[in-house]
Amino acid sequence: MKRILLGVTGGVAAYKSAELVRLLRKQGAEVQVVMTQSAMRFISPLTFQALSGNPVHTELLDADVENAMGHISLARWADALLIAPATANTLAKLAHGLADDLLSTLYLAATCSVYVAPAMNQAMWNKVVTQENMQAIRRHGVRVIGPEQGDQACGETGYGRMAEPSVICTQLLANDEVVSQLTHQCLIGHKVLISAGPTCEPLDPVRYLTNRSSGKMGYALANAALNAGAEVTLVSGPVALSAPIGVDLIKVTTAEDMYQAVMSKVTTHSIYIGAAAVADYSPVLSQSEKIKKQDEQLTLVLQKNKDILADVSARMDRPFTVGFAAETHDLENYARDKLTRKNLDMIAANWVGQEQGGFDSEQNALHVFWPGGDKSLPMTNKTLLAEQLIALIVEHIKVV
Ligand code: PMT
Repeated sequence: MKRILLGVTGGVAAYKSAELVRLLRKQGAEVQVVMTQSAMRFISPLTFQALSGNPVHTELLDADVENAMGHISLARWADALLIAPATANTLAKLAHGLADDLLSTLYLAATCSVYVAPAMNQAMWNKVVTQENMQAIRRHGVRVIGPEQGDQACGETGYGRMAEPSVICTQLLANDEVVSQLTHQCLIGHKVLISAGPTCEPLDPVRYLTNRSSGKMGYALANAALNAGAEVTLVSGPVALSAPIGVDLIKVTTAEDMYQAVMSKVTTHSIYIGAAAVADYSPVLSQSEKIKKQDEQLTLVLQKNKDILADVSARMDRPFTVGFAAETHDLENYARDKLTRKNLDMIAANWVGQEQGGFDSEQNALHVFWPGGDKSLPMTNKTLLAEQLIALIVEHIKVV
């Protein structure tokens, strides 16, 4: 059984933490809850007491606890401290080592792994000072889950929504091994170059050829690599996502743009992950004026684009090179063929064109191959899957 100490701070997402307690207990964890004063304005301690089956802790100096040292014994009790939601104020306290209430004091006293699930207004999340605090917290070994992008309680849209309780629960319990590897900042000193999203190949000023890639897989990988302590460069085709803060984002449109951007960065990076859905072909001629409707049929002449992944792995000074394979049939054969033909260190194969997973889905499953081995990563959300793939890469860069 795992003993989880859940810190709840004062944000509207506190209501989601009630569900989190339920899910954690359902998975067999024992849960104790610590609430800040402002958290109690959003949700009653009684709710958490009923759901956790334990009294809720709210006071730093609690006369009922022997020696009034409740924070020390709680810190010793926990296998993991999770703060969800973690407000901007609490994150700032953690970053600077302030200890003016039970939760922040517990954080300083804790020797177990610590996780935070930030939740706040998108402008607050994007504020430089918040991001500096996040960098400090990550450096200190705290594992950050989310936040996610979407509609917010304040009516705005952007990054800042607390990750869903099911995502937090899975990261904490099911993938402890992965998480603990990442918590140890195993990519510190590494520079990771990731390509993501689709490319758009113009036919004329108003039309282009593209594909269904949303960029979610590549952006999740960028976030996971960042969490593992890497410096991350993300070369992205046109997508509707915001890059995780702290990532060096290079926006591109065409396959040729992506080729140039990747090649200009590759020598300074130790790992390359090609998660982009790069167009294999582009129009020989992009018309300068709108193509007019005339004949019954229109023939487009396309030419093969350069293969970014193959050219990266062909370099003498190549980074650890990871490709993706998106297939509608014969997944394993095509993936193994690409691994060998493109001389890759690893390839992550996924089914596309199916109801679940692949393009533009929140979830995905990967079958990862490398010379001499393979591993199946079952269907889960892309955030978690990206963590698992990064952990697998970490295992392999140790042995090459
Ligand atoms: O973006 P999402 O909506 O989250 O969807 C994720 C995804 C399905 C796009 C992603 O998981 C994925 O599979 N990406 C690779 C898609 C692809 O183009 O696969 P491919 O089998 O056609 O290409 C094989 C590899 O060669 C890929 O690493 C690709 O980036 C690379 N390639 C392809 C063509 C080219 N000209 N240059 C390349 O580098």
